[in-house]
Amino acid sequence: MATTAAPSSFLSNIDPALRQFWHPVALTTEVPDSGRPLRVDLLGHSWVILRLDGRLVALYDRCPHRLVPLSEGTVVGDRLQCRYHGYEFDADGRCRHVPALGTEPPPPRIRVPTAHVRPAFGLVWLCEAEIEPAFPLSESPYLDPDLDTFVAGPFETRVDAGLLTDNFLDVTHLPFLHAQTFGGVTDEVHELEVERSGWSLRQSTDSVTTERGETLPVHYDYTLHAPFACQLAMTTLAGDREGRTDYVWSFCQPQAADRTRWFLVHAYAGLDHDPAAVADAAEFQTRVGLEDLSILEPMRRPSLPLDNSECHTRGDKGCVAYRQIMKSVAAGESRPLTAAPTSHAV
Ligand code: FES
Ligand SMILES: [Fe+2]
Repeated sequence: MATTAAPSSFLSNIDPALRQFWHPVALTTEVPDSGRPLRVDLLGHSWVILRLDGRLVALYDRCPHRLVPLSEGTVVGDRLQCRYHGYEFDADGRCRHVPALGTEPPPPRIRVPTAHVRPAFGLVWLCEAEIEPAFPLSESPYLDPDLDTFVAGPFETRVDAGLLTDNFLDVTHLPFLHAQTFGGVTDEVHELEVERSGWSLRQSTDSVTTERGETLPVHYDYTLHAPFACQLAMTTLAGDREGRTDYVWSFCQPQAADRTRWFLVHAYAGLDHDPAAVADAAEFQTRVGLEDLSILEPMRRPSLPLDNSECHTRGDKGCVAYRQIMKSVAAGESRPLTAAPTSHAV
């Protein structure tokens, strides 16, 4: 029997090339208002997220004195105090007080690395790059007061961030893998429009959904920004919900080589700010996410292949374009100068 060589080319969740991008690291609700720092993992190491002096701050989670986690410390005024010997660090990572030195100023070399940090989409985002890159996504649909927002998951999984993002962009799995939720119409043919711009791409297609027991025509419009951020705008084309656009964003936190946290953020029309309807929608979309994980987690290596070990058809056009973008990222190419298209409503 002929055998196929195992895929050998991947972009690891902890590849240094990923340091130039923004990544989500927590729900904003997970960051305590004051007094307690939050430890988060990203690209194979740890950061401490906290509010200091009214600012959201990210400090490397290692005290420069004896290398213990600063996330074990306590917020004292506008500083983070290490639990071991009481050194105090400000929002810029400078050591401002060493108790063993009394009133003597600490040596300036005692400093903790910091990272760029910002809130968006109900999440805290972190970027390790020296120069802060522009945030690639427009938040406007998420901030629309007529829409209800919720998060499905977050899911903790061994599937890597590239494969999760590929799955989100993959239209042709919807009728099959999601037959128990919104799929089931298995004879439809998707004609994809795909347009690449630098390290972003747009993909659109008409489709049908059977969500909530009703089969309706829909238009899907995806906007992907490398490496792991993708927006899906779903517009219903007929029925009571004709013209209604719901949004889903797939965001990945590559925590470690074999660990990803996956956030499916939603902004839905038609839920009328009804908490029960929002909770139902969140439960439904969590089931959808678990359906995806049920096929990806059993993979021997749940990572996005960047070699030629897979086969593709016309229905995979967007996913092929995503692999090409990720090859550029993996090759360590610098960010293209082409302006990324901004996300928009359909
Ligand atoms: S280890 Fe942090 S103050 Fe000593
Ligand atoms: Fe899916």
